[in-house]
Amino acid sequence: MGDTFRPADGFRFVILPAVGSTNDLLSALARHGAEEGTVVIARQQRAGRGRRGHEWISPPGNLYFSVLLKPDLPAAVGGQMSFVAGLAVAEALSPRVEGRSISLKWPNDVLVEGRKIAGILAEATVDGDRVGHVVLGIGINLATAPTEEVRWPAVALADFGAAPRDPIRFAAGLTGCIARWMEIWQRDGFEPVRAAWMGRAWGLGRDFRTDIEGEALSGRFDGIDADGSLVLELPGVGTRLIRSGEIFPAEAG
Ligand code: BTN
Repeated sequence: MGDTFRPADGFRFVILPAVGSTNDLLSALARHGAEEGTVVIARQQRAGRGRRGHEWISPPGNLYFSVLLKPDLPAAVGGQMSFVAGLAVAEALSPRVEGRSISLKWPNDVLVEGRKIAGILAEATVDGDRVGHVVLGIGINLATAPTEEVRWPAVALADFGAAPRDPIRFAAGLTGCIARWMEIWQRDGFEPVRAAWMGRAWGLGRDFRTDIEGEALSGRFDGIDADGSLVLELPGVGTRLIRSGEIFPAEAG
């Protein structure tokens, strides 16, 4: 029983009742020399942060997890980390929701049956032309999903009767999945990550809209390229690569 709460080799848990944001706390620890593999887990967050400045509502019962990673890689590929993380989260969820679809929505939302169950916030520093460290923040709706989520419908493991008794138990399994995908990425490069991600890609071949620096674009989602950029096929225009942003189905208002 105790073992199920123990992280994979190379990871150490710091478990706290409440913090502002686990990413903020771990970034501060990293500046003070925290070791690779340090994981901060909070039972709740008072100022959880999502991508693009959004709030991540963080009541007790869900997982708020940040891990410090120091991959020896060129800075140019640091952005690939969030795809690695998406795959790890999908893998950690999969035994709990067998028979249901787990998909990845570009760039790194994890969906079960099309509804968002987890979000990833990877924050990297650079050291010259290399990745310095990455604070990889992961929030997973275990017990509850936000009801006021209007950007994308949300869901929790509990909605499938599949919530773990304790978020720490789930976190322990997650570290093993992170270790596995980090090893694949660092050993074999982005291609196997890209291929696996494409295997779970949500909405492949469908029409999406996005907004790039005020320019509204809509086109067919053709996958991700060798760098992780979204490939959008614009009618009458051709291929457009989107490096960052958010996508919505074209039919949604
Ligand atoms: C998103 O989908 O917008 C990303 C959400 C990331 C939330 C996690 S919860 C743990 C870590 N600490 C934070 O403040 N944010 C991330």
